[in-house]
Amino acid sequence: MPSLSSKTLLSALAGAASVAAHGHVNNIVINGLSYQAYDPTVFPYMASPPVVAGWTSGNTDNGFVAPDAFASGDIICHKDATNAKGHAVVAAGDKVFIQWNSWPESHKGPVLDYLANCGSSGCETVDKTALEFFKIDEVGLIDGSSAPGTWGSDQLIANNNSWMVQIPANIAPGFYVLRHEIIALHSAGQENGAQNYPVCFNLQVTGSGTESPAGVFGQSLYTPTDPGILVNIYQSLSSYTIPGPALIDGASSIAQGTSAITASATAITGSATAAPAQTTATSAVATSAAATSAAATSTVSSSVVGVSSSAPVTTAAPVASATTSAASSPTGCPGAAKRRARRAARRAARRHARDLGLN
Ligand SMILES: *[C@@H]1O[C@H](CO)[C@@H](O)[C@H](O)[C@H]1NC(C)=O
Repeated sequence: MPSLSSKTLLSALAGAASVAAHGHVNNIVINGLSYQAYDPTVFPYMASPPVVAGWTSGNTDNGFVAPDAFASGDIICHKDATNAKGHAVVAAGDKVFIQWNSWPESHKGPVLDYLANCGSSGCETVDKTALEFFKIDEVGLIDGSSAPGTWGSDQLIANNNSWMVQIPANIAPGFYVLRHEIIALHSAGQENGAQNYPVCFNLQVTGSGTESPAGVFGQSLYTPTDPGILVNIYQSLSSYTIPGPALIDGASSIAQGTSAITASATAITGSATAAPAQTTATSAVATSAAATSAAATSTVSSSVVGVSSSAPVTTAAPVASATTSAASSPTGCPGAAKRRARRAARRAARRHARDLGLN
């Protein structure tokens, strides 16, 4: 069957191109403040990974969640994800700039964003399987005239591997999980061939919105045979049905653009309303950015002090973790800790290479 073999060849070529590696989100930027994400390729090997606004996840190979896991907890915030222990603050109507470290051109597909309300106790302890996600942004097929088409993922790559999403202005204040996702369709012509790359962040949304949109459980977002999941992109497509629920009223997928970082911010812990805390090594520019952000949220400056002192240092250099593990290990020395970290990194690299070989 000629059509099958050419399709298989195209899939194989797409897989080969992916040797450039998949990616993960490095950080998010809100009004110039950069919050570190959970780095699945580094943090799992750290003795004391920093508390960040990004959920932990077990995709140490930058891998994906397959459709046969759509009904499992893994689809919610990626493999074995656990709650982020901190959060970022954003006003309803403001934008969140999500920076991936890289994205392979072959991994074409839609980019989607969801929110789910965590309730008054915040997202740091919420049961992920109880979260009900509503969609606030989606970009699927942009131009399908020439296979494999131009997709949201291409727009993300053109936007410096980054994505801008607006928190709808009508959303009620509260604690939310932001679920950002790319679905790669290069192998989606066969069942269980799509690749979902979800990533979650805890946000505290401020403002005066009033809407609490209904959502769906993460485990109910997609099925393996949705038309936007089981689809052959190696043919010209006149349309594409983006999977998942419809966009909520008041949400819009905005024009892409970048957001300059003016300062680093540490994730805020606890469920009290608090302004973004900043790392100590900041400049005059950073200070004024913090003042602006704090003014935008309904907070008192005294809470910033409390948060700053309890917030962990965000520096995520593997060397820092090696030092920490050496200090906490009775037999450890800095040299041994560094060697352990290097061995762990090599193991991760080998796993990644194997994953790409299977791709
Ligand atoms: C593009 O992304 C890189 C890496 O995240 C960053 O260092 C650089 O500043 C970004 N460029 C722009 C224009 O945002």
